[in-house]
Amino acid sequence: MNVFVSVKDLSKRYTSKTGLIEILNNLSFDIHNGEFVAIMGTSGAGKTTLLNIVGTLDDEYSGSVTLFSNKLEQTSADIKQKMRLHKIGFVYQGFYLIPFLTALNNVLIPRLFNNEIIEEYDEKKAKAVTLLEQVGLKSYLGKYPNQMSYGERQRVAIARSLINNPQLVLADEPTGNLDSATSKEVITLLKDICKNQNTAIMMVTHDANMAAFADKTFILENGQIEKREN
Ligand SMILES: Nc1ncnc2c1ncn2[C@@H]1O[C@H](COP(=O)(O)OP(=O)(O)O)[C@@H](O)[C@H]1O
Ligand SMILES: [Mg+2]
Repeated sequence: MNVFVSVKDLSKRYTSKTGLIEILNNLSFDIHNGEFVAIMGTSGAGKTTLLNIVGTLDDEYSGSVTLFSNKLEQTSADIKQKMRLHKIGFVYQGFYLIPFLTALNNVLIPRLFNNEIIEEYDEKKAKAVTLLEQVGLKSYLGKYPNQMSYGERQRVAIARSLINNPQLVLADEPTGNLDSATSKEVITLLKDICKNQNTAIMMVTHDANMAAFADKTFILENGQIEKREN
């Protein structure tokens, strides 16, 4: 097994009007290839903060974070940007689809920026079509986000997160806007596709039913994590 994410002695403080608040306090964990980890914790516990640090979006912390053998503290902004494009997929509660682009083009965009793989436009497009088929949206290629249900929008966002064959998907409350049946469908899809290609998932959720799909759950409380095998 390869370690995709290695976090050692991670601490994070924010300065507020009332002084310093410690959000993450010396926590450590590893995530391996293909592993699906759920992160639970009360609102304000620091789940998004943790995901942002692992996603290379926040470098103001102490401790060390290693992604795919790159120590982030020693990695340039330029390389981190490439890691976000090529190795990490992001999924958010609010979908963040571009409203004036079709489902197909929303999924295709990150592939168009991918210059690590030599391929023609038609091949990039075929990859986007295949992913939309995999998430059950074959007949939605030409639809715009406002013509789709929330569950369909999140499936488009999942297809987009996977378009560059990431090694890690970071999902922040991906089912927060979905009903429970749709949530299950969306998580099952994400899980199946990631298991197939050995992609690791770090998924923040409030919902124990969604966390149950993961291999492990990390409970974030008082800046520490408690690890549970599911
Ligand atoms: N930029 C910031 N400046 C100051 N405090 C922040 C900032 N971002 C988040 N916080 C605080 O840090 C805590 C953890 O936030 P967050 O990681 O978003 O929690 P969660 O995702 O678990 O709900 C919260 O109390 C929040 O108010
Ligand atoms: Mg959050």
